[in-house]
Amino acid sequence: MTKDKILSGFSKLSKDAKIELVASRFHDYEHIVHELKSYWHDNPETQRLFDEFSENTISNFYFPYGIAPNVLINGKMYLVPMVIEESSVVAAAANGAKYWVPKGGFKAEVISTTKVGQVHFVWQGEVEKLQALFPSLKNDLISQTKHITSNMEERGGGIIDIDLIDMTDKMENYFQLKATFDTRDAMGANFINSCLEEFAVILKNHFEDNEYYTGQEKDCHVIMSILSNYTPECLVKTEVECSVECLKHAEDVKDAKHFAWKFEKAVRIAQIDPHRATTHNKGIFNGIDAVALATGNDFRAIEACGHAYAARDGRYRSLTDVDISNDKFRYTLTVPLSMGTVGGLTSLHPLAKFSLQLLGNPSAEELMMISASVGLANNFGAIKSLVTRGIQAGHMKMHLLNILNSLNVNESEKDLAVAHFANQKVSYHLVGKFVADLRKEHIEKVGKG
Ligand code: MEV
Repeated sequence: MTKDKILSGFSKLSKDAKIELVASRFHDYEHIVHELKSYWHDNPETQRLFDEFSENTISNFYFPYGIAPNVLINGKMYLVPMVIEESSVVAAAANGAKYWVPKGGFKAEVISTTKVGQVHFVWQGEVEKLQALFPSLKNDLISQTKHITSNMEERGGGIIDIDLIDMTDKMENYFQLKATFDTRDAMGANFINSCLEEFAVILKNHFEDNEYYTGQEKDCHVIMSILSNYTPECLVKTEVECSVECLKHAEDVKDAKHFAWKFEKAVRIAQIDPHRATTHNKGIFNGIDAVALATGNDFRAIEACGHAYAARDGRYRSLTDVDISNDKFRYTLTVPLSMGTVGGLTSLHPLAKFSLQLLGNPSAEELMMISASVGLANNFGAIKSLVTRGIQAGHMKMHLLNILNSLNVNESEKDLAVAHFANQKVSYHLVGKFVADLRKEHIEKVGKG
């Protein structure tokens, strides 16, 4: 048992009172209050908006908002917004994207956009009876949810189908209503969950009101109604292609054939070894998550789905595939991406709204293609580095500013360090020593002068 008392009513406190309570846990109370408030937005209306995105908010947590230029997809050039804290991710996406521009860029296509929701229930009657009555139940489910679905239907979406799934071989008396949805440009979580909760009520009524059922059979227990974030049929594919010879790149690919050979091996390793596959896919989600965040999409849902998809045949593997034949190099990413460009935070968060404007107000399908292509750009950049000069050179170069900032350097120290490390190996130790030497030199100079 913890010795700390349970805090009750925290959510009911005013924002100032919440800050006071949090700051009272620190010795430098005034400084903490000032620090937390220093990240509030100048405009109180904007700040109120941010506060209301979540609960118990006391400040804002800043992340960098960057741009990957030169992302050429299906002949259209994009400036892609990315929100990510990891140095070198935006640079990797930008480099990967630029590399492919002269070779025709990314060719992307949306394969399908179907989303899924389930009502999980326990029913104790005979399976055959349930199956016999399912067609009339399905009619009710569709007709009695029109008050929720009619707007979506006007936009061309809605409920696609509903199936009764017998799961009794996995758990006694366990069934599902498995529904598929088209949510058009919305991610659709609220729409799907509203439909499912209504399905649950209709399902229960169906048994209770039906004379065909007696005794135990009337006893239908809905366990839960919720969308599934596993959407293998909300799928996008993007690829790059060029002749093997074209892979030559002044900076790091001197021998195109050898590079292609090593690249293929690296991808095969990610297809057979889950340890490598996880890191390989993480590099893809570096790009995808950053676009998802910048556009107000749910990156946790996207990641969960992507990783489940990567393990769809029983073993976790790479989401990309490479084909080298007839002197052609072709690299493909196929990934499920449930994204939206309307609803949720997309128009409420000022920068999410701006991101979508910057992308030309894309449809959800277009955003799926953009995000996947940035994911592929990041992954291609990572593999290119890994099989040539390694990632640490580029990574630590980008990390240099973080190291310098953690050493509290001034502007002139920063400039000198950046110039010095332009052609030198970067490490915490080396940068620390360089800054310490600079400061020692400075003290000696001041002492003499
Ligand atoms: C780092 O954020 C991502 C990489 O580790 C991806 C990879 O190894 O493929 C560079």
